[in-house]
Amino acid sequence: MSRPLSRLAMRIAYASTQLPRLTWYSGQFHLMRGLAERVRQREAQGARPKPPSEAGINQLLNADKAALLKQDLANIEAGIYPLPRDHDGSLLTVLDRSLLFFRDLPAVEERRKRNGTREVLNANNRGRRPDYFLQNFHFQTGGWLTKESADRYDTQVEVLFQGMANIMRRQALPPIRAVFSGHDQRKLRLVDIGCGTGRFLDFVKQVWPRLPAIGLDLSEAYIRHAKGHLKRWSRINLIVANAEALPAPDNSFDAVTSIFMLHELPPEVRRTVIGEAARVLRPGGRLILMDSLQLGTRPITTGCCRASPIFIMSLIIRAT
Ligand SMILES: C[S@@+](CC[C@H](N)C(=O)[O-])C[C@H]1O[C@@H](n2cnc3c(N)ncnc32)[C@H](O)[C@@H]1O
Repeated sequence: MSRPLSRLAMRIAYASTQLPRLTWYSGQFHLMRGLAERVRQREAQGARPKPPSEAGINQLLNADKAALLKQDLANIEAGIYPLPRDHDGSLLTVLDRSLLFFRDLPAVEERRKRNGTREVLNANNRGRRPDYFLQNFHFQTGGWLTKESADRYDTQVEVLFQGMANIMRRQALPPIRAVFSGHDQRKLRLVDIGCGTGRFLDFVKQVWPRLPAIGLDLSEAYIRHAKGHLKRWSRINLIVANAEALPAPDNSFDAVTSIFMLHELPPEVRRTVIGEAARVLRPGGRLILMDSLQLGTRPITTGCCRASPIFIMSLIIRAT
């Protein structure tokens, strides 16, 4: 059996994996912002003054990011989860994904200008999925429907959150630990709804490799990507389904998670999805909802949605 890492070795190992990621994705974030600003300035035929609150927003975000990093390390040191493996792929894959991301930026910017969010709601797709799903969320190319969109997604999210996306996702692990603690993981069940490319499930399996887990998403392309990404794990089932009608009996799960999905659902759909989660949870099971704070969620983020702060809601389902 390998000896546990000393605290110093743990911190060095943590820093050596996380700091290069943060630098890499923050660098791309600033490059993307610089390019976008240049385009906008050219269009406005002159320099636009920066919003006066920019420095304040950055200060607050940096403080939140530092707090999240500290929390991530504290969770690792407390043994809540092991030293994480981000599984970003080989250097070639990482470079290739960044290239995909930057090549797509002009199309995203062009869509942003004309508020083009409805390209995928075309005659081909209409009726195959709910209308709210057939959007170019955040002006992404291909909506949730294409392989290219799935291949670009993780770089997009990490750049938007300046390398913090996986760190944010990992903050949903402690409330799961609280409900799984003391139980045989092979007898528990977890479903991640709107699992996307499967990054969160990867961290779940790093803690509970023998846990039977389901990843569910309405996008075939994203589920296909998740299957590739998660093939190192057993006891994991990835299915294409609508979270509004979970294909599972009542009282059949110990934990239901949903990461970064809720803000994309219309309010009435959100209610249905949360109702479905409550239905499939066993009494005493846990629903964990995580999302990033959005535009206007608190005064300082108004006018800026690149916030890394998160909200986590963790609810215990009781028998009625
Ligand atoms: C912003 S992504 C979040 C993906 C992932 N949870 C993560 O951590 O990055 C939102 C995901 O929700 C999925 N989705 C949206 N509406 C859905 C629905 N009604 N049922 C299932 N999945 C849905 C999308 O296909 C997409 O993969």
